[in-house]
Amino acid sequence: MKNSDPIYTKRLERHLDELKWLYMELYNSQKHFDDLLDHMQQFYDERKSSLKKLDQVREQQPGWYRKNGMLGMMLYVDQFAENLKGVRKKLDYIKKCNVNYLHLMPLLDTVEGRSDGGYAVADFRKVQEKLGTMEDLEKLADQCHKQNISVCLDFVMNHTSEDHRWARKARAGKKEYQDRYFFFDNYSMPAMYEKTVPQVFPTTAPGNFTYLPELQQFVMTSFYPYQWDLNYRNPVVFNEMMYNFLYLVNRGIDVLRIDAVPYIWKQVGTNCRNLPQVHTIVRMMRMIGEIVCPGIVLLGEVVMEPDKVAPYFGTVEKPECHMLYNVTTMATTWHTVATGDVRLLKRQMEIIRDLPSDYTFLNYLRCHDDIGWGLDYPLLESWGMLQVPHKKYLNDYFTGRWQDSVSRGELYNEDIITGDARFCGTTASMCGVEKAGFEQDEEGIDKAVQLDVMLHAYMLFLSGIPMLYSGDEIGQVNDYSYKNDPNKAADSRYIHRGKFQWMLVDNIDKPETVQGKLFKRLSRLETIRAKEPVFDASAGFWTLETWDDAVLGLARENEEGKLIGLFNFSQEPRTAWIDEKDGQYEDLMTGETMYASGVQLAGHGFCWLKAKK
Ligand code: GLC
Repeated sequence: MKNSDPIYTKRLERHLDELKWLYMELYNSQKHFDDLLDHMQQFYDERKSSLKKLDQVREQQPGWYRKNGMLGMMLYVDQFAENLKGVRKKLDYIKKCNVNYLHLMPLLDTVEGRSDGGYAVADFRKVQEKLGTMEDLEKLADQCHKQNISVCLDFVMNHTSEDHRWARKARAGKKEYQDRYFFFDNYSMPAMYEKTVPQVFPTTAPGNFTYLPELQQFVMTSFYPYQWDLNYRNPVVFNEMMYNFLYLVNRGIDVLRIDAVPYIWKQVGTNCRNLPQVHTIVRMMRMIGEIVCPGIVLLGEVVMEPDKVAPYFGTVEKPECHMLYNVTTMATTWHTVATGDVRLLKRQMEIIRDLPSDYTFLNYLRCHDDIGWGLDYPLLESWGMLQVPHKKYLNDYFTGRWQDSVSRGELYNEDIITGDARFCGTTASMCGVEKAGFEQDEEGIDKAVQLDVMLHAYMLFLSGIPMLYSGDEIGQVNDYSYKNDPNKAADSRYIHRGKFQWMLVDNIDKPETVQGKLFKRLSRLETIRAKEPVFDASAGFWTLETWDDAVLGLARENEEGKLIGLFNFSQEPRTAWIDEKDGQYEDLMTGETMYASGVQLAGHGFCWLKAKK
């Protein structure tokens, strides 16, 4: 079947050889490749003309998603506004938050109690009934596009729910469907895998396999037992999942977050993470997207050690993901809060500075997941901070067990054997808002808000796209009510997935409240960022030596101007001993004119200084 649409034909021709090469290398099946091509064409034919137009516009501006005005927010539809129609009604609030990129957390069909927050998908083409319908999703996407908001959705491609149609058939003994997963008749192969594969949820879901007593077989389940790993060695799995991907983007999704992507290829004797075939698959996804729907963006969820992350951008000639989470920076930021020592963060900024400027990171302080302490331990160890005690210190600090800490939160997946643990809590609780609020400590609240604003100012200063976690803009604290829900109680990540507190939004104009102190200052920072062209992703970015280990100094520059950011991670006032000899600067927050030389900062203070022309 040949498509006569010249636009499609041109795009296909551009990628066909490489796509076929990679496909054959992995699957060596002309029949399946032809089936893929037929479906791609069908999805293109079905794509709405409004989306096709957007594709063409974006093809002309490939950096459309990297503009300085981009600001993301991630939220749970039900926690924020009950359902998709509710979100549509709340778009004014989203606009008020200066947000133009909305990540709707998993909303596809799943089984309550066995859903992993929606990350166990039972049907990729159906919205959870309580949230609405596919039509509601399309309408919301349309409405968002009218208001210049891009929509992001998760694509959970590593596994399906055990309630997915394929899994049900596999459980009924159908070999064809068992072959879409990893089934084993006895434990000998699983035992071999277990020798080298680490555990994702060592406490809440130990082991990588689940025994199915009715079949007397084992199935691979790297995450929860009800999330069955898909077998991408089977071309049917790859093809069908690509069709699901194209189906979803045709509903009007602009950014596809490819969930847990490093895990999708399994090989006994390895750790089953980041294997070369994963990159082949992501590269093929990128090309399929560029042929059918070039306006979309792939956001990779690669929560891995630093040297494993950047390869997911691919190369300049053969790109893979458009965007990746800046996970190491996030974890390092909180390490810096707990230690008041910016040396590691400065080093991390230098690593990022040295990457090609086409690489776009998604910067964030908190998201729906825990914080894993993936830090550069060899470097920390050279400064006397050993991995095991240091992780313990960070966990003690953020759970508030450490005497000087104002943070509140809970451990996550504490591994009894290794003593390792991750951490959960909201930004506001980690900054001290919860503790000070509980103790009605006015001064404590001011300090907590100060830290919260400083962290946002630093995050917004970085290169890439800033992403807010819904509720952070109003200083929402931990929600302990998940403990009363048997479906959630074992998973402490729900502590930072609470209901959005609309009541608190009413406080935004009351200066004596946390919201009154926080929202407007964040808003101001966001508006400055959107207005100043020096925040463009392509601007030069480097670190400044401040001669004080508590103060991080960053700079950005392009033909439009130069900006310096100074961030004090100590509670005490400090001086940034910089000396920029290029004239006067304006403090963008206060409007004050000054020299960028020996700049004094309050405890947890910051400034954004713009060079005067
Ligand atoms: C991703 C999600 C996480 C989920 C996991 C399994 O890491 O962010 O919330 O538990 O994938 O799908």
